[in-house]
Amino acid sequence: MKPDSIRNASDVIHERSDYKNWLPKGMIYTALAISAAFFILFVIFGVSGLIKPGVLRTVLFIIFLLGAVIGIIISVWMILMYRAFSYNGKRKLSKRVIEGIADYVSLPEGGKGLDVGCGSGALTIAVAKRNPNAEITGIDRWGKEYASFNKMLCESNAKAEGVTNVKFRQGNAVNLGFADESFDAVVSNYVYHNIPGDRQSYLLETLRTLKKGGCFAIHDTFSKSKYGDMQAFVKKLKDMGYKEVRLISTTDGIFMKKSESGWMGLSDSALLTGIK
Ligand SMILES: C[S@@+](CC[C@H](N)C(=O)[O-])C[C@H]1O[C@@H](n2cnc3c(N)ncnc32)[C@H](O)[C@@H]1O
Repeated sequence: MKPDSIRNASDVIHERSDYKNWLPKGMIYTALAISAAFFILFVIFGVSGLIKPGVLRTVLFIIFLLGAVIGIIISVWMILMYRAFSYNGKRKLSKRVIEGIADYVSLPEGGKGLDVGCGSGALTIAVAKRNPNAEITGIDRWGKEYASFNKMLCESNAKAEGVTNVKFRQGNAVNLGFADESFDAVVSNYVYHNIPGDRQSYLLETLRTLKKGGCFAIHDTFSKSKYGDMQAFVKKLKDMGYKEVRLISTTDGIFMKKSESGWMGLSDSALLTGIK
């Protein structure tokens, strides 16, 4: 490795890929801070002698104690999820899901692929590795709740993995800005459920950019409350001429176990796949 003094900007990268975590650390810290605040309020107003014994003190005692207990339960749940998702932990759920989706994608020589909501670049890079003669573009709006994901991180991960057939750019899943039929394959993982509004229309926006004959592999939590009737959506795609359209549950062992998906709140996880 070059000494620090002669390393240039493109060298200032992680030497190993670091895909971060689907659960932002900031959310865990926020949950812990809220629990601590409730606990302090509980001690001040519910236990110390600041307020005389009576109805008010009893009410505050109950409210602040409940707040602290619920906060701690949520914090512990988040920490367990963080560990399960971690690329370095025992379960490596994120890695399993990413590689599982990438296995569904095959691009022609010189073909172009799109990963919508690429985050830290994991799926873009996994698809690029399996299709070395194609070019994959990862787009993401970045920032907001997923503050640890950004374009530089994606680029440094690609470099660390020795992958050059990728591009990353800022973009919005709601309005991708690519011409119709620009890509030979489109993929996405756990993105659209984050975006309020008509999620089926976001799927159509992604599929709009897919060439006829191109394949798609879109993984998400397709709950009825977020997506509406996905079986009707599958039928709609078939009526539009799409082939081999399937909505495959990924919680019965393909990507994760049912028990895992349950406690993680991922039980509606499924892969929407097919050919345009
Ligand atoms: C759970 S992360 C998944 C990241 C990546 N697909 C993966 O599997 O590692 C969700 C990602 O969706 C992105 N996202 C959310 N809303 C978006 C939008 N409207 N357009 C593009 N990306 C969006 C977030 O910035 C975040 O990177």
